[in-house]
Amino acid sequence: MGSVGLGRRDGSSVTMEVHVRPGDAQRTLRAEVLAGLCGERKPRELSPRWLYDERGSQLFEEITRLPEYYPTRCEREILLAHAGDMARASGADTLIELGSGSSEKTRLLLDALRETGRLMRFVPFDVSEAFLRQSAEAVASEYPELHVHAVVGDFGRHLGRLPRGGRRLVAFLGGTIGNLKPPERARFYAELAAGLSPGDGLLLGTDLLKCRKRLFAAYNDRAGVTALFNRNVLNVLNRELGADFNPEAFEHLAPFDEENEWVEMQLISTRPQTVLLRALERYVNFAEGEVLRTEVSCKFRVEQVEAELAAAGLHLVERWTDAAGDFALSLARKR
Ligand code: SAH
Ligand code: AVI
Repeated sequence: MGSVGLGRRDGSSVTMEVHVRPGDAQRTLRAEVLAGLCGERKPRELSPRWLYDERGSQLFEEITRLPEYYPTRCEREILLAHAGDMARASGADTLIELGSGSSEKTRLLLDALRETGRLMRFVPFDVSEAFLRQSAEAVASEYPELHVHAVVGDFGRHLGRLPRGGRRLVAFLGGTIGNLKPPERARFYAELAAGLSPGDGLLLGTDLLKCRKRLFAAYNDRAGVTALFNRNVLNVLNRELGADFNPEAFEHLAPFDEENEWVEMQLISTRPQTVLLRALERYVNFAEGEVLRTEVSCKFRVEQVEAELAAAGLHLVERWTDAAGDFALSLARKR
């Protein structure tokens, strides 16, 4: 797939590579909705990927600033204290960031990598194209010496397309790994490791198991921003599939599932209702109280993270946590 230059006022360029065209996204969404929403599977389910249209990406940014949502602040605390150690230990000249979003905290890593004198390339990789474009341009204007190469891709499908060459550090921040269920997560680690060269690293952010009350508060905030973020997926279905969901007819709830050790975002039908999915020529019936699961967010033990990485051939170099022990950043290396 070719690269497209976006152009920069200072004369250097942001390049962009697109692996998810609108048509592909539509086809994938249709297949997932047929299987997860129209089929017999219970609970009905959608992949969290669909939460992130441009509005969803903006709402997630708002979530990161909520008083109850601790992960972003904890991860920033760790990066503020240890980004230098991470940069030196990685020896990287290329930083690839999966699920990069705004790349806001990533600037701490970019600064630290720049300090080592090796940094040449930054590759933000995200499925949310418009938001990625804006974020990549912002980084490029703040780091004029850096080659910024943005990749529009799905980390569940396009890890084989990560740019090669140089010493690479792949950052997967925010705890987004927790949005993959255990089998998908194992596949993700295996595919990522298969594409890395010996010496390349992974810097992985994981949210750790903690008091259930704090978990509940973080995903059921008082201002209702997480509820807006969750319900926004119904607007995505309305727009992309000509559906007629009334987001107000679904309640947001994010309980902790003790067996799976994940927080689960749900949309709960407040009444019996029938929804039309025009593009699929289907109707879906929801009973009152019926759950549509839109995301899981796994919470981890540090030993579990280390073992899962090692099983994929990614060996722990060092792990850092915030002072309260709420969040971990693990640096692992392919041997
Ligand atoms: N890394 C940022 C953003 C986390 S939000 C932070 O730590 O704050 C999760 C990000 O992952 C969003 O930007 C979303 O668009 C992206 N994302 C979600 N599913 C994805 C997928 N399947 N492939 C690529 N990016 C994905
Ligand atoms: C992106 N991801 C790590 C967030 C999380 O905490 O699982 C998404 C999110 N969902 C609800 N609030 C935030």
